[in-house]
Amino acid sequence: MKLPPEQRAQFERDGYLFFPGHFSAEETRVLTDAVPDLYSRREAFNVREKGSDAVRTNFAAHLVSEPFARLARHPRMVGPVTDLFDEEVYMHQFKINGKMAFEGDVWQWHQDYGTWLNDDLMPTERAMNVAIFLDEVTEHNGPLMFIPGSHRKGVVDAKHDLTTTSYPLWTVDNDLIRQLVDRAGGKHGGIVSPKGPAGSMILFHSCLVHASGSNLSPFNRVAVYLSLCAVSNHIRRHKRPEYIAHRNFTPIEMLPDDCLLKPYPVEVPWKNGLPESASRTSLDLLDTVEA
Ligand code: SIN
Ligand code: MN
Repeated sequence: MKLPPEQRAQFERDGYLFFPGHFSAEETRVLTDAVPDLYSRREAFNVREKGSDAVRTNFAAHLVSEPFARLARHPRMVGPVTDLFDEEVYMHQFKINGKMAFEGDVWQWHQDYGTWLNDDLMPTERAMNVAIFLDEVTEHNGPLMFIPGSHRKGVVDAKHDLTTTSYPLWTVDNDLIRQLVDRAGGKHGGIVSPKGPAGSMILFHSCLVHASGSNLSPFNRVAVYLSLCAVSNHIRRHKRPEYIAHRNFTPIEMLPDDCLLKPYPVEVPWKNGLPESASRTSLDLLDTVEA
């Protein structure tokens, strides 16, 4: 899938592109139906909300579940990213965020590339976030908030927040958020929240500053976040376990466009649980070499 020049220009200017209803209801249902089994597993790849059993984020479903393994190779998702980068990509990170009814907690203001640089030593920002809604997203169930154009600031100051929620993040402080929002139009467009039906897709730049509020509504807001990195830009450090920051830099091979509806064969090596190696970090790896 190639993007027309106007969309490329819009991406350069705003740092994101929104594709409402990009996947059909039938395609989306195949994915939604696979979530309860993933979320029920007592594995390290399920991070639960602080003080609750609700799943905040599930990692690496493309190595556990066939429908998500097919989504990871979908040409309607991978195609626009390789087109924008003019290079093949590999899967750096794969999350299914719950933002469950009543319990889904906030995601503080951050840039994803800040974490990938600080934790994983990813050399440049040539990595793309793709969000795919598995539920309808409305103003009530904790939609993403973007500061349009904030990606053009490059990497901004951030501090490592280990306490506010159950998942550590490099977060941006309120003064800088105020400045970025003012610069983007303040009350008039300084923050935007793409909303739409299940199956909608957003591409957003890895330096785009974003956040989301809690979900106090009775409606889940499950969404998949795929982070695709240009192959030449692969991470240089394995400080985080492999189920969070992947170490397989092989270019993604796309499947045909109907791959969510037909059972094309895919490998799901972690379907029976995480191997011990997937939880190792660089320090453990050094220990192994020394031992
Ligand atoms: C993220 O920024 O990684 C998640 C944000 C969200 O799910 O609202
Ligand atoms: Mn993020």
